[in-house]
Amino acid sequence: KRVAILISGGGSNMLALCESMTGDHPARPVLVASNDPEAGGLKKAAALGIPTAAVDHRPFAGDRAAFEAEFLKPILAAGPDILCLAGFMRVLTPGFVERFKGRMLNIHPSLLPKYPGLDTHARALAAGDAEAGCTVHEVTPVLDDGPILGQARVPVLAGDTAETLAARVLREEHRLYPAVLRRFACGDRTPVRS
Ligand code: GRF
Repeated sequence: KRVAILISGGGSNMLALCESMTGDHPARPVLVASNDPEAGGLKKAAALGIPTAAVDHRPFAGDRAAFEAEFLKPILAAGPDILCLAGFMRVLTPGFVERFKGRMLNIHPSLLPKYPGLDTHARALAAGDAEAGCTVHEVTPVLDDGPILGQARVPVLAGDTAETLAARVLREEHRLYPAVLRRFACGDRTPVRS
C-alpha cells in the first residue's frame, strides 16, 4: 500500500509513521506533503529519502478549492492508496475528502467525540477531566468526526499544564497512529484500544 502523509509543522507523527513502515509492513511512505514550505517535517522526510511536496496555502487567501486544486497535483502524482493527516492544520473541503473517502486517516489530540477542534488539552484541563488522550479516525466531511479507528488514554496529573499534557498525549500518538495504520493497511478496521 502506498501512503501519502500530509503535515503542517514538525511532523513528529509523520516520522513515527514512516519509521513504522519497514520490513513486512504492508505499507510504504511515497510522499510527505505540506501546506507550509517551511514545515520542519519536510526536512525530516527528505532526510529519510521520502519524496516531499509543499504548496503554500497563504497566496490562495480563503479560496480553499483553489489551494486544494494545486495541493492535489503532487498527491495524485504519487498515487497513494492511503492518506494520513498528521498534524495537518487546514480544513479540507468535502470535495477533497470525497476523493479519498474510506482511505484518509487523521489523528486528533483528544478522546473524540470530546473536544473536536483546537486547544483540546486546555479544554480538558478546564473541564477537570481525569484523563485525556488521542484518537485516530477516518476523515469525513465533518471536522474531527468519522469512524474511530483507535484511541489511547493518558491520566491528567496534578499540576498539569496544557504543555505537559500535550507532551504526554503526543507520546501516545506516536504509538497509536502506527498501530492503526498497520491494521488499516491490512484492511482491518477493528479499533485499536490502548
Ligand atoms: C500536535 O499537537 C499533535 O497532537 C497533533 O498535531 C500537532 C503536531 O503534531 N496531532 P506533529 O508533531 O506535527 O505530528
